[in-house]
Amino acid sequence: MAEAWWAIARSEEVTAAKPINVDIGEQPVVLWRDQQGVPYALEDRCPHRRAPLSLGCVLGNGMIQCGYHGWTYDGETGHLKDIPNLKSDAKFPSLYRAIPFAVAEGGGFVRVCLDAKAPTPEPANQTLPLSGTVNVALDHEHYIAALFDDPALVLAIRGVRFTPYLLAELAEQEGRLVLERSCQWAGLHWPSPFSSDFPITLHISTDPVTGESDLLLRDDDFNSLMHATVAPVPAARGVTQVRWRAKLGDNRPGMAAKLMGFGAPLTVHSAINGEALRVLKPSASIHAATLRNEIIARSAETNAA
Ligand code: FES
Repeated sequence: MAEAWWAIARSEEVTAAKPINVDIGEQPVVLWRDQQGVPYALEDRCPHRRAPLSLGCVLGNGMIQCGYHGWTYDGETGHLKDIPNLKSDAKFPSLYRAIPFAVAEGGGFVRVCLDAKAPTPEPANQTLPLSGTVNVALDHEHYIAALFDDPALVLAIRGVRFTPYLLAELAEQEGRLVLERSCQWAGLHWPSPFSSDFPITLHISTDPVTGESDLLLRDDDFNSLMHATVAPVPAARGVTQVRWRAKLGDNRPGMAAKLMGFGAPLTVHSAINGEALRVLKPSASIHAATLRNEIIARSAETNAA
């Protein structure tokens, strides 16, 4: 959907020193900042001879210059602003304009919408300090399905074992897909799938289009043990590029919860266990697909009205 906002970079990945390339599906995007820190996004193709603008450079005035013949574009509008060695009375052909995309920054992510006129979303109110980016050889749809059906395939939380049991079935809440999975402390429970003691819960809230998910791990007393955002974006050739941010809860009573503070609390896997994925039976993801289609259809009707 053109109006979706994709978290295509962590804030620290976008600089004024060098433009970067990111894909949203088949759409290549170039991202950079000007010297004041304002981020910009254009189609990553120079309108002149289609060279990737991400191979160019950011000029002192914040515009991007193609590395091939030096044509220069304004980040906000995509308008061509300079052609080296052009005669002073020559006009720029209006045909040459890089496609601009809408950009918003918040919560430590730079988000891009392919619809340049899309209304800017509310910025997140906090930036989670731990972060990373991985490239996973699994397409976007199946990546999100794996997160719903068995989070252990795509990530690990230090000391936590995900169980097959849902405390609350996947459901729609305010346009998002939400489920709660019962979890245990690894090592503290007899590894039986039939244990009924689930002292911790993983709450997952997912954007139905982008798959960007907020994860909240909490104990029986609703203490927040860890909060994370996982943002998968479809990249080229079936690869999903996943960016994440996380923060441990400040109040983590109990020895097992305290031990989360030693070493990385969250690992987002860069490789998926193919054997485990092959035998994974779709469960929550089946319902998610139905709900997702309903939400998208409803949204399309609202936009058309
Ligand atoms: S291809 Fe970019 S200036 Fe020629």
